[in-house]
Amino acid sequence: MNHDHSIKKFYLIGNPVKHSLSPVMQNIFLNYYEIQGKYEALLVEPSDLAGVVKQLKQGGALGANITVPFKESIIPHLDVLSDDARLIGSVNALRFHDGLAEGFNTDAFGFQKSLSFPIAGDKIVLLGAGGAARGILTACCSLGCHEVAIYNRTIHRARKLIDDFQGKFPHVHLKTIQLNDERLAMEILDAKMIVNATSVGMKSHSEDSSPLKAEFLHKDLIVYDIIYNPPETKLIQLAKAKGCCYMNGLTMLIHQGLESLKIWIGDDLPFAESLIRQVEKTLNEELLSQ
Ligand code: ATR
Repeated sequence: MNHDHSIKKFYLIGNPVKHSLSPVMQNIFLNYYEIQGKYEALLVEPSDLAGVVKQLKQGGALGANITVPFKESIIPHLDVLSDDARLIGSVNALRFHDGLAEGFNTDAFGFQKSLSFPIAGDKIVLLGAGGAARGILTACCSLGCHEVAIYNRTIHRARKLIDDFQGKFPHVHLKTIQLNDERLAMEILDAKMIVNATSVGMKSHSEDSSPLKAEFLHKDLIVYDIIYNPPETKLIQLAKAKGCCYMNGLTMLIHQGLESLKIWIGDDLPFAESLIRQVEKTLNEELLSQ
């Protein structure tokens, strides 16, 4: 990492990072807002995480995004947490300021902004219990969902989510789904939306897999896969074939990314719908060319 102090430096920290569109997207934002800066992906091994945070803190970087699998494990390496990051228990953006590393969460905001329909009073099935799932659970609870049923390969992680969140959102019925196909199918039956917040289906991870079987889907279900690369995951393909409404994670990515930039630069970046459209178009082209 060489820091030229005349340009502002931003990084993506994750593993894998090759599939990520954050560098392309953030460099479009920097260009649009005429900020002299550069955003690069850093592939980080778990054992190097602490060292990388220290290096960025001391090396003049302004900000970073955090992706799989570090959104929770980064927390002990940070000096300060925003209220949202503390509430959610997951960090996807860092700001380096006055020699301190500050953690923020813009995933919940990005997810909320990406929804074009109300979910108040509805039931959601959430797949996953990692850092991304924490942000989504917070957004669903804040938006007034009636019930969120959580399904995760490692069930104690799902239980931990309930322990951490039920007290914060007493009006929402939170429960785990036992690792059992029948139970999962039953829970999906009366859900309005299912959200995949696992890494299953992600490029360079498990592209040919779906986190659940086609027969669990029904046509009145909204299927939201927060993965955006590939743009059509196996799960989205199954949803399409079933006639479900579906969406991928591109819009969430854009909104969490723009919110991260606002944190790094200051809040006065004017929101431009035209920028969002331009970024969406460029990212879709980028995905098609991969
Ligand atoms: P993120 O920060 O993106 O949420 P994470 O914290 O590593 O990343 O969480 C990844 C999620 O994907 C977890 O819910 C994980 O399940 P476990 O808690 O059991 O690890 C889930 N996941 C990853 N690979 C998986 C796989 N092959 N099958 C099922 N679930 C998987």
